[in-house]
This record gives sequence, C-alpha cells and structure tokens, in this order.
Amino acid sequence: MLRSLLATALLVTILRGWAWCDAHPLPRNNSLIAVTADGKRLLCANPDSGSVTVVDTGARQALFELPVGRNPQGVAVVPNSRFAVATVYDEDVLVVLDWVAGRVEARIRVPDEPYGVVVSRDGKLAYVSHDYPGAVSVVDLNRRTLVKTWKVGRFVRGVAISPDDRWLYATEFYTAELLKIDTASGSVVDRWTAVPKYNLARNVVLNPVRAKAYIPHVRSDVDIIDADRSIAPILSVVDLDRVKGKRRKPISLDTYNGFFAVANPWEAAVSPDGRMLYIVYAGTDDMHVNRVLDDNYYEIEMARPLVRVGRNPRAVVVDPTGRYAYVYAALDFCVAVFDTHSMEIVDRVTVTTAPYSRRHLLGKILFNSALQPMVARRWISCASCHPDGQPDGRTWHMPEGPRNTPSLAGLWYTHPLHWSADRDEVQDFEHTIRGPLMRGCGLIQGKPNPPLGAPNAGRSEALDALAEYCNSIGFTLSPYARGGKLSEKAVKGRELFYRADVGCATCHSGPYYTDQKMHDVGTGRDDPSEKLGPAFDTPTLLGVYRTAPYLHHGKARTLRDVLTTYNREDRHGRTSHLSDDEIDALVEFLKSLPYELPPELEGDRTRPAPYTPDEARGTEPQAIRSRR
Ligand code: HEC
Ligand code: HEC
Repeated sequence: MLRSLLATALLVTILRGWAWCDAHPLPRNNSLIAVTADGKRLLCANPDSGSVTVVDTGARQALFELPVGRNPQGVAVVPNSRFAVATVYDEDVLVVLDWVAGRVEARIRVPDEPYGVVVSRDGKLAYVSHDYPGAVSVVDLNRRTLVKTWKVGRFVRGVAISPDDRWLYATEFYTAELLKIDTASGSVVDRWTAVPKYNLARNVVLNPVRAKAYIPHVRSDVDIIDADRSIAPILSVVDLDRVKGKRRKPISLDTYNGFFAVANPWEAAVSPDGRMLYIVYAGTDDMHVNRVLDDNYYEIEMARPLVRVGRNPRAVVVDPTGRYAYVYAALDFCVAVFDTHSMEIVDRVTVTTAPYSRRHLLGKILFNSALQPMVARRWISCASCHPDGQPDGRTWHMPEGPRNTPSLAGLWYTHPLHWSADRDEVQDFEHTIRGPLMRGCGLIQGKPNPPLGAPNAGRSEALDALAEYCNSIGFTLSPYARGGKLSEKAVKGRELFYRADVGCATCHSGPYYTDQKMHDVGTGRDDPSEKLGPAFDTPTLLGVYRTAPYLHHGKARTLRDVLTTYNREDRHGRTSHLSDDEIDALVEFLKSLPYELPPELEGDRTRPAPYTPDEARGTEPQAIRSRR
C-alpha cells in the first residue's frame, strides 16, 4: 500500500516536471505580437491603427492589414489552425481572424476592456484578461461564444497559461501582484503580493523549463519628486513552486549588471529553451538581452549591452526556433527583427502607418519618451505616471501638497489644469519637463513664460505637438450603462444630482460635468502639507467609475466616501440629508458616466478649448436636455 502510494507520488512528481520541460513551441502570454507555430507568420496588433497585420517572416513583409476596431491590445495564435484571436479594448470584443486568408471571421462580445489573451493547447478556449473591473473570461472558440467571466482581481492585464493548461497567471496593473487561477473553476488559488510601490505590470511570461514567472513593471516612489528616483524599472522574478519564504524577488533593471538607466519596462519574452530573456523599455527605446541563470539568486545576467530597437517598443516575442526575437516599435509602426546569433537588429518590417497627423505623432513620441529633450537621466517619462493618458493610481507628494494623478481623458474640455488650476495650457508642462521631476532640456528656446502668464503655445512646434496629443485623449463608455441606458437606480441618482437641494450640477455642470472653476468644498482645510488649497478646480466626472482613489489627496477610496466620509459638513454639495439608498443611487449615476459620449468640438488642440461661461450653459448638460 505504502509502496504504491510512493510510486504514485513519484509519478506525479515526474509528470509535473515533465509538464514544465515539454516546451510548447508557442509562448503563451499576452502580447501585442504573436508568431505562428511554424515561425512563418507574425501577427501584430496595432492599437493606434485599430488593425492586426499579418507578416511573412521569411520575406519580412506585411501580407495583410486587417481592421479590427478601436485599440486592439492583445493577439494570440490558435494552435493547430489558421486562426488567431485579438482583443479590442475600446469595443469590448474578441476578434477571430483567419491569418491565411487574411480575413476577420467573427467578433465575439466580451465584457469591458479586454486586454490580454491566451489560448488553450487544443485551440478550443481563449482566456481573456479584463483591465476594468479586473476579470478573466473564457471564450469557446468553436461555438464562438463567451462561456463565463470570473472576477479575479483589479485591473487585470498580464496573463499567461501553464504548459499543461491547468493554471492561468495574471497580473494586476496597479499592484504588480501575480494571481494563480485554476482554469477549471476560476478560483484564485494563490497570490504573490507586492510592495505598494510596485506599479504598471501589464505582462507576465513563464519560463518553459523552470517554474519561474517574470513580470516587468515599475516602482512609483510617490514621496520622492526627482528625475532619478521617482520611477524605477523592475523585473519581478516569481518562484511558482515555492509555498513559503521569498517567493518573488525584484531585480532593479537599472543596476543589475553595471549601471545604465532604462524606463518603462513594458514586456518580456523567454526563448523556447528557457535560456534567454528579453525585456523591452517603452521609455528609452531599447531592449535588454539576458541569459537566464539557473541559480535562484541572480536569475539573469546581461548577454550584451542594451540594443536600440526603435521608438516606444511595446512587445517582444521569440520565434519557435529561438533564432529571432521580434520587437514591436509601436511609434515607428514597425517590427524590428533581432538575430539572436549576431545579436543585432537585422531588419525592420513596416506593419502599419500612423493614422494621425505628424504633429500628433510627435506629441505621442515626446509623451512616451524618457530621453532628451524631455528627460535628462532616462528613468521617467510623462507616460510613467500617465500611461496612455490613464492614471497611475497614485497620489504623489508634490511640493504643493498631495496630488492624485488624474486621467487625461477629455483634458481639452476641462481646462484649467492641475487640481489647483495653477496652469492654463498643456504647454505649461514645459516647467515639468525642466523641473526636478524630469530635468530635461525642454522644448522651448529661451525662457518659458510663467504657467499663468503669457501663453507658451506657439513658442515651440514640439511643445504644441505634446499639447495636441494630451488634448486628444478621449473617453470610453461606462460599462455600468451598456448601450447608453441608465439603470433604474441610476435614473434616480440623476434626479438627485440635478436637484437644487443636493446641488451637484451647480459645479459639475455641462456635458463634461465641470464649471472649470475653483471651489472650496471642505477637502483641503485640515492638511498642513497643503500649500495651495483649500479651493480646487472642479474635476470632470466622466469616467470616475474607473479612477479611484478620489479627490486631490486621493484619500477617498470609493465614490461613496467622497459623498459621506469626506463631506461631513455638506460643503461638497448637500448629502447629509440623503438616505443610504439615495447615496447609493447617486453613486450608481456617477458610475454610469459617460453613458453617452459628450459632444466634441472642432478646433485647434494645441490651444486650450475656449471656456464657455457657466451661465450660458445652465446647470443641466446640453446633451441631456436636447434628448428630452
Ligand atoms: C511622477 C509622475 C508624473 C509625471 C512624470 C508626469 N505627471 Fe502629469 N500629473 C501627475 C500628477 C500627480 C498630476 C496632478 C498634479 C496636480 O494636479 O497638481 C498630474 C497632472 C497632469 C496634468 C493635468 C491634468 C488635469 O486634468 O488637470 C497634465 C496635463 C499632465 N499632468 C501632463 C503631464 C505631462 C505632459 C508630463 C510629461 C511632461 C507629465 N504630466 C509628467 C503626475 C505626473
Ligand atoms: C461647489 C462646487 C461643487 C459641488 C456643489 C459639488 N462638487 Fe464635486 N467636486 C468639486 C470640487 C472642487 C472637487 C475637487 C475637490 C478635491 O479634489 O478636493 C470635486 C470632486 C468631486 C468628485 C471626485 C472626482 C475625482 O476624480 O476625484 C466627485 C465624485 C464629485 N465631486 C461628485 C460630486 C457630487 C455627486 C456632488 C453632489 C452631491 C458634487 N460633487 C457637488 C466641486 C463641487
């Protein structure tokens, strides 16, 4: 009896080991690019162009570019088939495409913000990570339907699947925690926690021969405002088998082998034999090529100095033979081919073209860049705190007081800028570029005008381009009001919002829910570190469902907290006379914003949108009034 038990235990151990050794030719983790099993085709999801491009890797030429929808963020090949799947973040669909015929086969509706995708070995199931609210869903690829959705964490982006298909590993964007999810039940069976500073983890890769996972991410040191120290690049190496003790270790990617700063590690890839690890840096436009050490201590060593790979590299994959690594240089709109023998970039394949003006492109490049003229020391870029214009989920200890990073969506319509309205045009961020946070040489020749003084617009083409990019970031509709319909509760909440005795709409007015003015709503009075309060600029409420924590100080963890704990004296609208149910209804309404996209004005986005005087607008959003 004992002997047979032992034999079974041994067999299980061998089989488990074998599962990790039986290298599957396709890396199965989220990425913007994917290679087919024979290595002959590469698929590339282009977020800006809204397309997926199929590349012939032999001829090094794009074959087709297939439109898939706004903002695709992940692509994966379906094994043993001619199909691939791609997530379309802004449209909440998973697209099935035929990469042989070059056609979109199906569009499968999935929950909000699909981000990464991996496919089971038999090609039957796709697992999709969802950024907001933080879920994984399972899609049946034969029946082409959504099977189920598991709520597993918050802001889930990175996803990888174990060689035996039993486990999914997923990362949370704003915590860099790793979750282990049972693919049979959807339960989270393990969690590798991280220190609160870890941030922006949107990718995880598994080593095919050692039970290790690698997570590229940053560390946001919110109490230091310094170009060298606010943001640090980290690789977390996770021991997947270890139950106790040190289960994850951080490698500082700026100092681990010599000393050379890099910014915004965005994605990693392991070679099929598990011996090489590639990491791309979206801020410094380069890539580390590392040997994987089997020492459980150093883990990696640099195999060659940094490789320059092109602008804003956002993805890297290794082909099934390990001969080439492909790097997606997102703002060069091309895939760079890295030869792992000669250790050089040997070719570049254009996969799409910029779908916007040269000015917008220049602005986006500058926004993402951690190089001069933006930054002196290569650690930080605007995107380190505003990734694609989204918030970083942090409250920074600025000299003027605590400041929660806002979303930049709708910026053009919500000027003035900063919680304290101490800037009136994006060009004033020349002062951020030259200041302690970035120490760049800046974009204006000569001295910039003071933030609220004469305009800085028109003084530098590059700075105007940066403004144009920041001013064009848009919203996506709230998942709490699918199809633009408010729930019954949200309709009740809307009534309260516009009721005179509650008074929200006096300040949160117009289609962007802001009067663009300063008010003291009682939030900044008892904080000795606050230097500019107690009045703050009314923020827009569009998109607040996904931007917790709230208020300039980021102390309100939920929308309910804003209206209760942080509004004890009724200075921020009148809420104390409302019942619990009424507060719930108000919160439900706030979560539903935007339930329709606000009207867009035509105009020159290098300059602030004209302010519309409050009185002319009334207290109700025009969009709502005109629908009645
Ligand atoms: C260290 C993180 C960090 C970096 C780097 C950073 N920002 Fe910010 N940004 C913030 C925070 C925090 C706020 C809120 C500050 C405030 O309101 O006073 C902010 C506010 C803004 C706003 C105002 C948004 C609004 O609605 O009022 C804009 C525009 C902006 N940043 C653009 C930029 C640009 C452009 C860069 C690069 C030149 C940049 N930021 C670099 C953290 C950062
Ligand atoms: C007197 C003008 C005024 C009124 C009335 C008002 N607000 Fe505000 N609201 C503000 C200001 C100013 C802030 C920013 C305060 C801060 O950050 O400390 C704010 C912040 C908020 C925030 C946080 C947004 C974020 O991104 O952090 C929410 C949510 C909000 N208000 C909802 C409401 C609701 C709901 C009501 C009605 C009960 C209301 N407000 C009434 C001016 C107002």
